[in-house]
Order: sequence, then C-alpha cells, then structure tokens
Amino acid sequence: MQDSIFTPAVAGMQASAIREIFKMLGVPGMISFAAGIPAPELFPAKEWAEINHKILTERASGALVYGTTEGYVPLREYIKEQCTKKGIYKEDVDELIITSGAQQAIDLSAKVLINPGDGVICEEPSFIGSLNSFRSYGAKLYGAAIEDDGICIEEVERYLKKEKNIKFIYTITTFQNPSGVTMSLEKRKKLLALAQQYGVFILEDNPYGELRFRGESVPAIKSMDTKGTVIYAGTYSKTLAPGLRVGYISARKDIVDRVTVVKQVNDVHTPVLNQMMVHEYVTNYDFDAHIEKCAKIYGERCDLMLAEMDKHFPKECTYTRPEGGIFILCTLPKGTDTKVLMQKAIEKKVAFVPGATFMLDLDQPSNLFRLNFSVTTPESITKGIAILGEVIKEYLQNL
Ligand SMILES: Cc1ncc(COP(=O)(O)O)c(C=O)c1O
Repeated sequence: MQDSIFTPAVAGMQASAIREIFKMLGVPGMISFAAGIPAPELFPAKEWAEINHKILTERASGALVYGTTEGYVPLREYIKEQCTKKGIYKEDVDELIITSGAQQAIDLSAKVLINPGDGVICEEPSFIGSLNSFRSYGAKLYGAAIEDDGICIEEVERYLKKEKNIKFIYTITTFQNPSGVTMSLEKRKKLLALAQQYGVFILEDNPYGELRFRGESVPAIKSMDTKGTVIYAGTYSKTLAPGLRVGYISARKDIVDRVTVVKQVNDVHTPVLNQMMVHEYVTNYDFDAHIEKCAKIYGERCDLMLAEMDKHFPKECTYTRPEGGIFILCTLPKGTDTKVLMQKAIEKKVAFVPGATFMLDLDQPSNLFRLNFSVTTPESITKGIAILGEVIKEYLQNL
C-alpha cells in the first residue's frame, strides 16, 4: 500500500498562504494590503455589460460553441500585431497561442519542457503560482536573489556553471511579484546572453509591465532574442479583468505547437465569449486611456503608501520604491519572522502577505512581507499603514 495516494511532486505542495489570508479578509473592518489584483472599481464594468449584450445578441452561437485551441482568430491577430510592434512576436520564428491567463501560459510551458529532476532558476522571492506549477512537474528550483535592478546575475551564472540540469530561467521582468522591482536593460541583455551561452530557455512573465506610473519603459527580453530562447507570457488580467482568464504565449513555433496539443487536453480552449469580449474592448474602446487611468491611480496610491510608510515605519524596515505594478516589498532585520508579525497585524485588523509564501522553502521564517496598493482606498492606506507601523515597532521592540 502506498503511503500517499498523491504523486511526490504534488504531495508536498502547500496551499497559497494568500488564499488562506483571504479567508480572514471578510472580518468587518479588516484593511487588506494582501491582494494581488487590480482595483475592482476600475474594471470597465459598464462597457463589459454593453459588450456582453452585443456579442450575445449578435453572435451568440459563435460565442457559445467550441473554439479553436490556438484562440479566437481576431483576438489572436490583434495580439500578434501588438506584440510585433514591441518585438515580442516575430512572424518568421514565433507562434502565438491564447491561454487561460498567464497562469496557464506558465503551466503549459512548464508541462512541455520539464522532466522530473530538471532545474529551474527563479527569482527568490517569486510568484507562488509559477513555483507550484514547476514543482508539480518535479522540477528542482534554484533561487537567485532579487536586487534593486532585478535578478542577481552572478548567482544565475553560478547555477548555470555548476548544475547541468537547468532547463529554463523564470523571471518576472517588470514590477516583479512580490518585489515591484524592474530588471535593468543591462541585466536583461546579460541574462539573455547567459541563457544562450548555456543553452537554456528563459520564461519571461510580464503581467504588470503596462502598469507603469513612473520612469522609462524597458524592452522585454523577448524583443532582444533572435534565437528562440525566450518564451513570453502575457495577460489581460491586470489591465482588464482577471476573471476573464485571457492571456497568451509568444514563443518559438515548435514550443507553441506542443503547448497547443497539451492545451487541447487541459481545457480545449480559453472560453470564446471571454476572448470575444477582450477583442471587442481592445478594438472598439479606448484601451490605452483605460491603462493610463489605472496606472495613474495606482501611482497615486503607491506614492501615498510610500509617504505614509516613510512617516510611520521604523528605520529598521526597508522597502522597494516601484515605478509601476501593484506591490511594494518590505524587509525587516534578519532573524525576524513576518508570519508572526502577520498574526499581530491581523489582531489589529491589517493584513499583508508574509514573505515565506514567495520563497522556495515555504517552512523557513522570512523577514520579508508584501504590501499591495492597487486595491485599497487612500483612507484605508493612511489608516492601515499607521497601524502597521505601530505593530512593526512593537514587534521589533519585543524580539
Ligand atoms: C507574476 C505573475 N504571473 C502570473 C500571474 C497569473 O496571472 P493570470 O491571472 O493572467 O493567470 C500572476 C497573478 O497574480 C502573477 O502575479
């Protein structure tokens, strides 16, 4: 009799602490900095209602039947065109498939590439949804630290030199989750050169890149790649609505071919109605103005949060100053445990995500924690950060 009915790859996987925290968010008066989503009040709900009505009145049968696995043709063409402009899609070498969010883009890429025991180098801390996907295929994860200008290149190079099993490097290049950090152009070039030198892929995940409220945009690594090294995952989750589940992969044709076959057995295709809705929005409404509006509001909320943190957080707590996206990462002195801090904060009705969630070893205490600024109102930011400042000071004093 087996000890566990589950495969070793999934038996050790833990539920996201973020989902656990969500259970507490219903408590009246709780101020949550734990979210990982765009502000729901900025979803273009009125437009979605119009669009939905139009599609279901004029093209219901097309919207409700099975679609092709590669994606709804007009949306796919639109995304190819947009990605061509950014150099992320190159007609002669690449193919593009629409996926059910970036999560599926990452998971299917991992599924077609990872053999049990293969290595994946990732930023540490990183997005748990991706780390768990890699784990589920039996990957061995190697964490490289995040610096102010992105992944530590020396650590990546050390792993590439030493470990012979590396299949790809996973990176969230712009406004990284959870740090908010953006990889510099210089590092992007170095990372690509290293990947090509050692013959490994790069999985470039860029869900937040369009939400820039400061500074100059930096080209995607994929745009500098002429050798089919980079697999690029994009999504409409953070700009339009995460519940629609519309994302995509732009990558070498043979990789996308395999992903297509695998997607057929996963979910056949991304819901056609949702793809039509996204297509209708991006072609008939002012998508650029919508993104600009969201980025402006997130910029104001980020600035307010940073100003309140400067006022209320003790100097022992340092933090990133993002130029876009939705997250700030805070660092407490070594030896602290932000899971313990979280319990104390929750008692005072403030929630955040402790750093252990984003680490390779989920059981090790972490001195990091993530704050989200996109979902909270300015009033809640002011009130919640003042409370959190007090909780942190008290926690550090009683260590
Ligand atoms: C870094 C990162 N990648 C991918 C995803 C998944 O996005 P999607 O909703 O498009 O599946 C998220 C969502 O939080 C994320 O933070």
